Amino acid sequence: MITYRNDVVPDIATARALYADCSLGARRPTGDDARFGAMLAHANLTITAWDGAALVGISRSLSDFGFTTYLADLAVRDAYQRHGIGRELIRRTQRAAPQAKIVLLAAPAAVDYYPRLGFHHHPQAWLLDPGEVVR
Ligand SMILES: CC(C)(COP(=O)(O)OP(=O)(O)OC[C@H]1O[C@@H](n2cnc3c(N)ncnc32)[C@H](O)[C@@H]1OP(=O)(O)O)[C@@H](O)C(=O)NCCC(=O)NCCS
Repeated sequence: MITYRNDVVPDIATARALYADCSLGARRPTGDDARFGAMLAHANLTITAWDGAALVGISRSLSDFGFTTYLADLAVRDAYQRHGIGRELIRRTQRAAPQAKIVLLAAPAAVDYYPRLGFHHHPQAWLLDPGEVVR
């Protein structure tokens, strides 16, 4: 049975093991303790999924709890995927900040996932990567 928690932030090693066990690990700076630690520490809405003592999923967001929730990472261990854990993590993220719209960037492996859950594509999204100069 999977249990969900919104009252715990996994430590770096525990989170790193989860990210390493799905394709998100290659797309996040999990090997950089300072950077990965900051990602975990400064997210202010983290929902986790557990199989006993094992962390099997995470939804890591930054929310203002009034208008916008940025869903920065959604990850479920490979062996636990396609059992509804990702959907439940997003449901709980939305429930924690019901007036906020959820905004995210889909990883290539998940471009077909979010529309399936009811998300709509927004053509006016803009990015400025780290190091890119504001002109
Ligand atoms: C994407 C991810 C979070 C989905 O989590 P999950 O627990 O496997 O998804 P769910 O079981 O909640 O799936 C819900 C539905 O989407 C479908 N689905 C799951 N993964 C999908 C994918 N990659 N593409 C399209 N549909 C997908 C499921 O079959 C299910 O279908 P249903 O409506 O018929 O029940 C998970 O596969 C993952 O961690 N992937 C690697 C990391 C990643 O890419 N994260 C996203 C970063 S933006």
